[in-house]
Amino acid sequence: MRLSLVLLFSGLATGCRGSSSSPLPPRLLLVSFDGFRADYLQNYEFPHLQNFIKEGVLVEQVQNVFITKTFPNHYSIVTGLYEESHGIVANSMYDVVTKKHFSDMNDKDPFWWNEAVPIWVTNQLQENRSSAAAMWPGTDVPIHNTTPSYFMDYSRSVSFGERLRNLTTWLSSSNPPVTFATLYWEEPDASGHKYGPDDKDNMHRVLKEVDDHVGELVHQLKVLGLWDSLNVIITSDHGMAQCSKDRLINLDLCIDPADYTLVDLSPVAAILPKKNRTKLFYELKVCDSHMKVYLKEDIPARFHYQHNDRIQPIILVADEGWTIVLSKSSLKLGDHGYDNSLPSMNPFLAARGPAFHKGYKHSTINTVDIYPMMCHILGLKPHPNNGTFGHTKCLLVDQWCINLPEAIGIVIGALLVLTTLTCLIIIMQNRLSGPRPFSRLQLQDDDDDPLIA
Ligand SMILES: *[C@@H]1O[C@H](CO)[C@@H](O)[C@H](O)[C@H]1NC(C)=O
Ligand SMILES: *[C@@H]1O[C@H](CO)[C@@H](O)[C@H](O)[C@H]1NC(C)=O
Ligand SMILES: *[C@@H]1O[C@H](CO)[C@@H](O)[C@H](O)[C@H]1NC(C)=O
Ligand SMILES: *[C@@H]1O[C@H](CO)[C@@H](O)[C@H](O)[C@H]1NC(C)=O
Ligand SMILES: [Zn+2]
Repeated sequence: MRLSLVLLFSGLATGCRGSSSSPLPPRLLLVSFDGFRADYLQNYEFPHLQNFIKEGVLVEQVQNVFITKTFPNHYSIVTGLYEESHGIVANSMYDVVTKKHFSDMNDKDPFWWNEAVPIWVTNQLQENRSSAAAMWPGTDVPIHNTTPSYFMDYSRSVSFGERLRNLTTWLSSSNPPVTFATLYWEEPDASGHKYGPDDKDNMHRVLKEVDDHVGELVHQLKVLGLWDSLNVIITSDHGMAQCSKDRLINLDLCIDPADYTLVDLSPVAAILPKKNRTKLFYELKVCDSHMKVYLKEDIPARFHYQHNDRIQPIILVADEGWTIVLSKSSLKLGDHGYDNSLPSMNPFLAARGPAFHKGYKHSTINTVDIYPMMCHILGLKPHPNNGTFGHTKCLLVDQWCINLPEAIGIVIGALLVLTTLTCLIIIMQNRLSGPRPFSRLQLQDDDDDPLIA
């Protein structure tokens, strides 16, 4: 019923635009500020971002994927898949079969990315649509032989202003039009690592810069006349935890470097045993109480981090704020990668545009839910994924949504009304029928008139 109404209205709207032009396809810009921990929004001031949120929607906490690292989470946002299913299982990987290595400095081999199809590729398979990227992990790699029509090679030395200028040029002048675009910025992650999230003064300064970038973005979109028609999502990949030199786990004190290959170190270590896996496992098991030690087959199901050859035979997961080191390692004051159920690891999501409600707040969705929502907005058929479109319905203007508290309220309200009505009816019936005590009294007084009954 609702669907047919929507179809009817959109049909009317299309008809009214006349035959001169075909309707403009929906457009979406996806922005990531790396390492933007959800509670920064409560603990710091963001005048530009808060204005953006006032005109759109806010998801206060996004449940991201394990391990809570940059490459894996950025790929989950654009594929809707858990890491074990999209294949980017860490920022540092090793493939035993091909003997290939992957790192954030050596990420251009499509081999690593081809286990999934990111949304910018799917978008470009539609007629008359192109994609553009002012950076985002994977956008400068020919995944399934396809890059975005417009993209830049990753370089952290390109300023935010240049990324924004070039991206908005593509958004405003390309043919076929850019309908999906990404914009990536390294802060507040870089400073979070350097100073630690508890360093209020430095984080205040950096987060003000991030907010100013949001201001530049909005200003630029308004100047170019893109603001009213473009849907914009601002989100992030993970949060940040405070670390300390007093919370170190030194592997060299527990296992012999000759017994294993270290593929990744902290806070989730990936260990490839050279000889006896069981022996290594038991040595690690008693190494330090501030980390969990898992054989690959025993990794908890809630991590969805098991079914991929790139996940190593033993993984170690440090407790929040602890750092796994070798004797020679240096320490970061802030880090991420920990258990994705820790609030400090979760980012936020804000969105604004014709597809989104205005002034709506939502408590939580999953990172993997973003992909089916984006596909819906763009009218793309999603690839099989681990997200749930229903989780994002409350954010979207064209969807019915009743959230749980509202639903409970409505049910209780309805029950109250029903009960009240029933009581009223019973009372009325009692009044109309049956002897009333008062009239019986009158009767008794009036006993010289027996016909009155
Ligand atoms: C694609 O664009 C061309 C030129 O603007 C137009 O003639 C054609 O109808 C468009 N195709 C679709 C499917 O919209
Ligand atoms: C941005 O666009 C300018 C002008 O076309 C170009 O010279 C510059 O190389 C572009 N920047 C990047 C990072 O691609
Ligand atoms: C591996 O180590 C375990 C525990 O130390 C030991 O019981 C087992 O015999 C070893 N296996 C081999 C093949 O050496
Ligand atoms: C995630 O989605 C992929 C693709 O549909 C599927 O193969 C995989 O089993 C899913 N994972 C879980 C835990 O459901
Ligand atoms: Zn990151």
